[in-house]
Amino acid sequence: MDELKKIQSNFEEKFQNVKSKDDLQNIKTEFFGKNGQITLQFKTLGSLQPEKRKEFASNLNKIKGDLNDKIELKNSEIENIEINKKLKNENIDVTLPIRPYHQGKIHPVSQVIDEISSIFSEIGFSVAEGPDVESEYNNFTALNTPEDHPARDMHDTFYLEKNKKLLLRTHTSPVQIRSMINGKPPFKIIVPGRTYRCDSDQTHAPMFHQLEGLHIDKNITMGHLKGCLDYFIKEFFEVKNVKMRFRPSHFPFTEPSAEVDIGYKIENEKIIIGEGNKWLEILGCGMVHPNVLKNVKVDPRKYQGFAFGMGIDRLAMLKYGINDLRAFFETDYRWLNHFGFDPLDVPTNYRGLSK
Ligand code: DAH
Repeated sequence: MDELKKIQSNFEEKFQNVKSKDDLQNIKTEFFGKNGQITLQFKTLGSLQPEKRKEFASNLNKIKGDLNDKIELKNSEIENIEINKKLKNENIDVTLPIRPYHQGKIHPVSQVIDEISSIFSEIGFSVAEGPDVESEYNNFTALNTPEDHPARDMHDTFYLEKNKKLLLRTHTSPVQIRSMINGKPPFKIIVPGRTYRCDSDQTHAPMFHQLEGLHIDKNITMGHLKGCLDYFIKEFFEVKNVKMRFRPSHFPFTEPSAEVDIGYKIENEKIIIGEGNKWLEILGCGMVHPNVLKNVKVDPRKYQGFAFGMGIDRLAMLKYGINDLRAFFETDYRWLNHFGFDPLDVPTNYRGLSK
């Protein structure tokens, strides 16, 4: 019993000096830790006479409970003090002016990709994507582009390997191949994405953006192609009428092939799309060549359809009056601030969001 009293007064003495959580932890260890003063007393129980043991154990348990209660109480006292201290130091000064912040802008290319995707999704096209690094097979061979075609020339194409097996895709057309080889007809996709050619001046950048379109089904005709493009141009430029002409052309992956021009005029130094006596070339298109369909195991006697490809940067320049393509990729914050789009502004024809 004397021993317990000694421990108790020892505890009281030390407990008076407890000021922090650390002090509290130390005292806990000293009395209740593995070799703590109280813990050691419990270990002596086994060696006591049974009658003595009972009394000692009950005293010991009582002291243990008392000391624990004191520790608990002290713990919440200390916590309260710490919280009050914090509250005192963290006074909010509501008169402080707000910190300046910069809201980002959406790049015109991203904006136009969103607009185009939403316009085509209205008539059932879904968006497909493919990698920038492409095989020569998908980029050229499967698209019926002969070995000696000038587009394969080193001057236009960034080859990544000496043996010419890998390259940076020169157009989004290889995604036609990827989509068809991995799926079953019908196909109705658009493919926005980055493309690369060894070219650079005011209207050409070595990296630029294209949009591919592909619609394969039974009984798809050139009439559908015309209707689809007519709808797209009107929606995109937000005009009611658009003069459009199909000029015969040649692409290895379509037969027949055409280039499409739209009418425009200049008024007060501004370009008006859709009317006027001038023509602007905006895309290439045609009926998918049977050889392309054969290459992706689609039977050209059962299925046919159209494809088209257009330059997204060019469309953005035309619609939003931007005249130097290079500025698109110079990451000049002032330029983006001027030509970029507010993320919360919904353009009138961006129906994907406003509906
Ligand atoms: N891939 C062509 C180019 O980069 C554009 C193009 C023309 C794509 C006709 C097509 C198409 O799908 O049918 O110049």
